[in-house]
Amino acid sequence: MEPIVWEWVNFLVRWLHVITAIAWIGSSFYFIHLDLSLRRRDGLPNGVAGEAWQVHGGGFYNMMKYTVAPPELPEKLTWFKWEAYATWLSGFCLLSVLYYHGAELYMIDPAVLDIPWWGAVLLSLGALGMGWHVYDRLCKSPLGKDDVKLAAAGFVFLVLVAWGLSHVFSGRAAMLHVGALIGTMMSANVFRIIIPNQTKAVAAMKAGQVPDPALGKQAKQRSLHNNYLTLPVVFLMISNHYPLAFGTRYSWVIVAVVLVVGAVIRHFFNSRHAGKPTPWWTWAVAAAGVAVIVVLSAAGTRTESAAAASDKVEFAQVEEVVLSRCSMCHAAQPVWEGIGVPPRGVMLDSAEAIGRHASQIRVWAALSDAMPPGNVTGITPEERRLLAAWTDQLPR
Ligand code: HEC
Repeated sequence: MEPIVWEWVNFLVRWLHVITAIAWIGSSFYFIHLDLSLRRRDGLPNGVAGEAWQVHGGGFYNMMKYTVAPPELPEKLTWFKWEAYATWLSGFCLLSVLYYHGAELYMIDPAVLDIPWWGAVLLSLGALGMGWHVYDRLCKSPLGKDDVKLAAAGFVFLVLVAWGLSHVFSGRAAMLHVGALIGTMMSANVFRIIIPNQTKAVAAMKAGQVPDPALGKQAKQRSLHNNYLTLPVVFLMISNHYPLAFGTRYSWVIVAVVLVVGAVIRHFFNSRHAGKPTPWWTWAVAAAGVAVIVVLSAAGTRTESAAAASDKVEFAQVEEVVLSRCSMCHAAQPVWEGIGVPPRGVMLDSAEAIGRHASQIRVWAALSDAMPPGNVTGITPEERRLLAAWTDQLPR
């Protein structure tokens, strides 16, 4: 019964997380577009920096932006913050339900670092907490005065984190944690900087003072970071379904490339929405980046290069490997503790079933080391090579 309850808790929390993330990213894309499309014209009210006309849902909207504040604060003001907070909170719940609760399967790979489950959880919490701290310090340091230098430093920092995590966690947990750290940075930007600064500005205005422009500048910088990090963070979050992204030798380099690809695609849309010359070059960079990712992902697992043995493989050998390394979980009645039903409906408990899943076995266990999770059943590099050679020799 227990695995079934966990499965549903997992599903429901994921459902919530996806919904809150859609709400957050949706409102963030909307406001970035709105901000960039504001235009000045004569005759706008005092304090208005620009206006935009929009049509949606059967009506027309005339949006105006008061950069500092309207002459009088309206009674009812809508704040946009719960989307960000709920995304982080539901994301943290999902991290706990899936990764912390299943640390042995999802976080720990003894071949990388043999740690107890609580060690993995502490490392995870430490990475998120320390990561935010370092990023926040970087922004507040003299580097933070120059957006380009700060971006370069932030990039180097995140790549170092990706590299470091790949030396303590399973490939899957390492990549997911870079995403979780970026998500934490983005939500903390809202929670610790953007909203508090806006609150201070509103309080100052209520007291009849002029708000400190530094508050607005700082918030703007953080919101620029959130904008450019949105696409990479989504890639990293869904990467855990794609073993060639997280379970191969250069997964941490893939993270570095994704940070660039995501940022340049965002830049394309930012420029377009601002009515600037369209930077078509960004698509060339993105395409080149994706090509690099594909090539890197084919370099093999962390223990074995992609070159498969060329000897003819007997199916009996393959069957023995799969039955001894996979079928304790992937069977109608799994015998592995905590696994109630065959994971993702994949059964590998007969010759026929193994043959039918050949291409999945290739991606999850031969080209990447995604399966067995955390290599709990101790598949050897030779056995992976055997699976690769077998799937290579199958007629296509
Ligand atoms: C300890 C239990 C366990 C063992 C052993 C195991 N798996 Fe899995 N497998 C899982 C779990 C759990 C999932 C679901 C992963 C997820 O939630 O993303 C899974 C998912 C899969 C999937 C489906 C992925 C998808 O979503 O399409 C394939 C294919 C797979 N495993 C192949 C294998 C192969 C091949 C082996 C042996 C080399 C193996 N597994 C060994 C637990 C196991």
